[in-house]
Amino acid sequence: MLLQDHIVLVTGAGSGLGLGIAQYCKKQGAKVIVTDVATEKLNEIAQKFDQNDLILRCDVTKATDLVQCKKEILNKYHRLDAVIGAQGIFDGNLPIASMELQHLDQLFDELFNVNVKGYLLTAHVFADVLKENHGAMVFTTSTAAYAADGGGAVYTATKGAIRSLIQQLAFEFSPEIRVNGVAPAAIGNSQLKGPKALNLEHQKQSDIPKDAFLNLFQSISLLQELPDAEDYGALYAFLASKQNKVMTGQTIVADQGLLNRAVLTH
Ligand SMILES: NC(=O)c1ccc[n+]([C@@H]2O[C@H](COP(=O)([O-])OP(=O)(O)OC[C@H]3O[C@@H](n4cnc5c(N)ncnc54)[C@H](O)[C@@H]3O)[C@@H](O)[C@H]2O)c1
Repeated sequence: MLLQDHIVLVTGAGSGLGLGIAQYCKKQGAKVIVTDVATEKLNEIAQKFDQNDLILRCDVTKATDLVQCKKEILNKYHRLDAVIGAQGIFDGNLPIASMELQHLDQLFDELFNVNVKGYLLTAHVFADVLKENHGAMVFTTSTAAYAADGGGAVYTATKGAIRSLIQQLAFEFSPEIRVNGVAPAAIGNSQLKGPKALNLEHQKQSDIPKDAFLNLFQSISLLQELPDAEDYGALYAFLASKQNKVMTGQTIVADQGLLNRAVLTH
């Protein structure tokens, strides 16, 4: 198993991608620390894990939460092998011209806080324990970091920032820590929320009519299936594992072949 004897922290694991990854890592032998800002989600998913695992509320935008989380991890396991970051919020895929200037201003702070600062603070807090153990960080960006129309301008900018952050952190934390990323295109069972700045916090990206999105996605992607969160598990588990001795500073574009074509035929 890829993650036998590994202790793996997953942030933003209350639903969607992070939850799917945490469950996959468990199947691969890891003890997992499942964290999220949403207490109600953590309560709901508790039965999917057992006493070998740790379920903690942690808001990645708060340094104090991350430090407390590290304390609890070290109390229980005395070490950490990998941090997988999966938190994120969406911008509703709206063009900036449709927003009031003050809303754009708030939207920027809200999204960069979770989607970029959350990863940066996590990296800082856990770097020392991962260094001791020659561990790994695996962060989540998006195909939005590579091509237009994967989200609105602010979401896209946050995902570009994470992609660059992965490269810089791999450089700064070498040779002890491997830092890589995954850029998914779409996740069927996501609950990705909109921002408070636009009053879209109760709207989910998955509220976009599923059939319409599925048809569009299938018509332009090569593999023609909308993957679920668990389908990304193997990529994350490999990058988090000690078996990855050859990659750092890279992002795997996991897009079903979406970006592989210039669309001339259908
Ligand atoms: N849904 C997609 O199609 C898609 C495509 C590409 C990339 N992504 C990325 O995948 C990641 C996971 O998204 P998802 O689609 O599974 O959505 P999701 O909403 O199901 O999962 C994201 C989780 O992050 C948590 N979170 C939000 N703010 C947090 C904070 N401050 N601290 C800790 N946790 C916080 C949420 O509560 C939620 O449980 C995100 O980074 C997203 O941008 C999603």
